[in-house]
Amino acid sequence: MDLQSIISKRRTTKPEDFNGAIIPEAIFEEILTAANWAPNHGQTEPWRLFVFDKNGLDNFSSFHAELYKSNISSELFLQKKYETIRSRTQKTSHLIVLAVSTGSKSNIPIIEEICATACAAQNMLLTATANGVSSYWGTGGMTYEPNFKKAFGLKSADQIIGLLYFGYTNQPEIEGKRNTEINQKIKFNLNL
Ligand SMILES: Cc1cc2nc3c(=O)[nH]c(=O)nc-3n(C[C@H](O)[C@H](O)[C@H](O)COP(=O)(O)O)c2cc1C
Repeated sequence: MDLQSIISKRRTTKPEDFNGAIIPEAIFEEILTAANWAPNHGQTEPWRLFVFDKNGLDNFSSFHAELYKSNISSELFLQKKYETIRSRTQKTSHLIVLAVSTGSKSNIPIIEEICATACAAQNMLLTATANGVSSYWGTGGMTYEPNFKKAFGLKSADQIIGLLYFGYTNQPEIEGKRNTEINQKIKFNLNL
């Protein structure tokens, strides 16, 4: 696939639509390596990846679901949500908890560290697409909760920006959808 096709054909595929097949090590390695080529200001390389594969996914899901339970009052607790979180990785090959490590250089603002890490995420999603691997960038469940971050040994200024699920699917290709064309989001030569 050429670059434009990889970009436009990358689609969010829910982990429930994965088929349980495992990504070969060499392909997953390629996905991880792509993260490291993200642009970043001041050579801070702020992306940190916590990877779970078949040896860690069940532990991750159990931790995530139990954290949801302990983080919420019993009146607000939803059994269905608990079960969704608990079972989300059942057909996932690999999951990356993607974090932003902040503060390595005091002159680099956090927004730039987040931008760089988001670029690392996109590098991985595109590399997945190029290899026929489906992906899902989720921020649900406990993603943004302080206790979630704490379990990964992150500092309070660090941020987790996504749970990236990777796997294969048997579902037909999903049609991409955007509300407006790019031209409606561009102003050329704004007279200032
Ligand atoms: C920062 C970020 C957070 C996201 N969080 C979620 C999420 O929590 N749940 C979800 O269903 N999709 C999430 N998505 C995926 C979007 O729903 C998806 O990208 C959007 O629907 C466009 O579809 P496409 O990725 O197939 O082009 C997230 C995407 C980004 C970039």
